Amino acid sequence: MRIQPVGALLVAAARAVAIEIDVNSSESITHAAFIFSHGMMSYYNGNVSGETPGLFVSPYYWWEAGAAWDTLLGYWFITGDTTYNDQVKSSLLFQTGTSYDFVPANQSTTEGNDDQAFWLFAALTACERNFSNPSSDHPQWLALAQNAFDSMAYRWDTAHCGGGLRWQIFQWNHGYTYKNTISNAGLFLGAARLARYTSNDSYVEWAEKTWDWVVGLGYLNETNYFVYDGADISTNCTEIDYLQWSYNAAIFLAGSAYLYNYTQEEIWYNRTWNLLNSIYVFFQSDTSIMYEVACETVSLCNTDEQSFKAYLARYMGLTAVLVPDTNDIIMNYLISTVAGIEQSCVGGTDNVTCGTTWLNEGWDNTWGLGQEMSALEVVQNLLITTVDPPYTASSGGSSNGISNDTDTSTTSKITTADKAGAGVVTSVVLLGIIVNSWWLVA
Ligand SMILES: *[C@@H]1O[C@H](CO)[C@@H](O)[C@H](O)[C@H]1NC(C)=O
Ligand SMILES: *[C@@H]1O[C@H](CO)[C@@H](O)[C@H](O)[C@H]1NC(C)=O
Ligand SMILES: *[C@@H]1O[C@H](CO)[C@@H](O)[C@H](O)[C@H]1NC(C)=O
Ligand SMILES: *[C@@H]1O[C@H](CO)[C@@H](O)[C@H](O)[C@H]1NC(C)=O
Ligand SMILES: *[C@@H]1O[C@H](CO)[C@@H](O)[C@H](O)[C@H]1NC(C)=O
Ligand SMILES: *[C@@H]1O[C@H](CO)[C@@H](O)[C@H](O)[C@H]1NC(C)=O
Ligand SMILES: *[C@@H]1O[C@H](CO)[C@@H](O)[C@H](O)[C@H]1NC(C)=O
Ligand SMILES: *[C@@H]1O[C@H](CO)[C@@H](O)[C@H](O)[C@H]1NC(C)=O
Ligand SMILES: *[C@@H]1O[C@H](CO)[C@@H](O)[C@H](O)[C@H]1NC(C)=O
Ligand SMILES: *[C@@H]1O[C@H](CO)[C@@H](O)[C@H](O)[C@H]1NC(C)=O
Ligand SMILES: *[C@@H]1O[C@H](CO)[C@@H](O)[C@H](O)[C@H]1NC(C)=O
Repeated sequence: MRIQPVGALLVAAARAVAIEIDVNSSESITHAAFIFSHGMMSYYNGNVSGETPGLFVSPYYWWEAGAAWDTLLGYWFITGDTTYNDQVKSSLLFQTGTSYDFVPANQSTTEGNDDQAFWLFAALTACERNFSNPSSDHPQWLALAQNAFDSMAYRWDTAHCGGGLRWQIFQWNHGYTYKNTISNAGLFLGAARLARYTSNDSYVEWAEKTWDWVVGLGYLNETNYFVYDGADISTNCTEIDYLQWSYNAAIFLAGSAYLYNYTQEEIWYNRTWNLLNSIYVFFQSDTSIMYEVACETVSLCNTDEQSFKAYLARYMGLTAVLVPDTNDIIMNYLISTVAGIEQSCVGGTDNVTCGTTWLNEGWDNTWGLGQEMSALEVVQNLLITTVDPPYTASSGGSSNGISNDTDTSTTSKITTADKAGAGVVTSVVLLGIIVNSWWLVA
């Protein structure tokens, strides 16, 4: 790692590289990760008096904050840098909501099942990385994850399209009639991780049920293993939006890897490999540099979408750990992507700000939380196999589950899951707040 000296020559050349990343050097990778983690946190002021803990600055939605804390948990575990741990912990705990399931009242105008899933994922990472638990009078990471999962599973809706989760939790939010893949991917990965962590096979059943539904509708095509965006209930989910987002593919990939690692069933091994064999869609064919194919080459990635490559890298990394013979292919993809990051992350006043696309020559004049998070996930996952694999309750994890939780209200709901839509307040005016509308991007 070498930071280019201030005032270096060659400024005029378009190809100045501010961060050189030696992919064979853990110090070099860790230093690059340090720079990108710092870049991420430059969009956080929730620790300042008068601001809300856990939320990043505008325009970042609540869901992306959950995703960001998850990335920083990975950052700590992989690099050993504890700088942000206190902020990660206080943020996750501040945003649990009063039911301890990551449905805080302030987010009721925007929160969808997919949004909740990204906080669920962070709580699961806290379990799997044995992150410092909340005090014993507070629900532990596992309890929070189980509550979040149970509340999502409770929303399984058999009244339309034969099952599945809607995009939105609340009827008054735009997108309530859409059943999107990412919400169901969230349920799937949540189930797969809880199964492996707790060794409770009820979660495997949920994962199988979700997989079967997603495949049955054609959201995930078992011929080419492409994963599509979703469909509206007005067509009984038959008119599919065929946009492919990297996080959908990545989450099914990692979920399959978790399920194989836990069940050791060949079918999940095959599905992991089939999904991995289709991941090339998100890598430029000549350079093998990662890109968000649905929006990036036309510069139409919105704020949410600018972060999607982070989840692709994160879940490829976990897959490499959980199904070890995928490691070489996955690391090759990440290594080839580093070249793109090096030439893009030369922007801003600090000269290390990352752009959205890593394909172009140089920085593309965009910046943000998602850009930094994406670069961070790629570089830190180069080291993922040098640290312990995700822990389970019986091997290294220490978080207590809902049997120790004072709030059991959400745990019983799963048994009445076919009461679709129950619990949703019906008589609220449409607030007209349109969020997370990535499926509208043509
Ligand atoms: C990293 O190490 C591998 C194997 O030792 C080698 O093939 C590769 O060229 C090295 N890459 C760089 C960028 O030094
Ligand atoms: C808030 O967090 C940022 C990022 O970690 C840090 O730079 C800043 O000093 C913190 N501010 C306060 C008031 O703690
Ligand atoms: C909800 O919003 C209020 C008003 O902005 C704020 O004081 C409070 O801390 C927020 N709570 C959460 C959990 O975000
Ligand atoms: C709606 O789709 C589901 C799942 O594909 C199917 O089982 C059901 O029969 C369909 N309903 C109608 C009315 O077509
Ligand atoms: C397994 O998980 C299911 C679903 O959350 C729960 O109902 C059941 O009690 C759990 N079983 C055990 C043995 O913990
Ligand atoms: C799945 O993909 C194959 C190959 O591209 C295609 O022939 C088939 O029609 C697709 N199936 C569905 C249900 O879309
Ligand atoms: C997994 O794939 C192999 C190779 O294609 C095939 O022989 C085997 O039957 C598959 N197993 C399952 C359970 O699908
Ligand atoms: C599960 O993951 C661990 C950690 O990488 C690995 O050692 C083990 O072989 C994996 N299990 C299977 C069945 O692949
Ligand atoms: C960024 O690069 C410019 C041009 O080389 C230089 O003038 C400036 O001092 C650099 N800023 C930092 C923070 O390194
Ligand atoms: C996990 O954390 C607990 C509580 O701090 C600790 O006792 C245990 O040793 C940790 N496990 C690992 C694998 O570090
Ligand atoms: C419940 O919590 C206590 C204290 O934190 C712990 O000792 C005990 O093992 C936990 N029990 C279960 C079933 O998680």
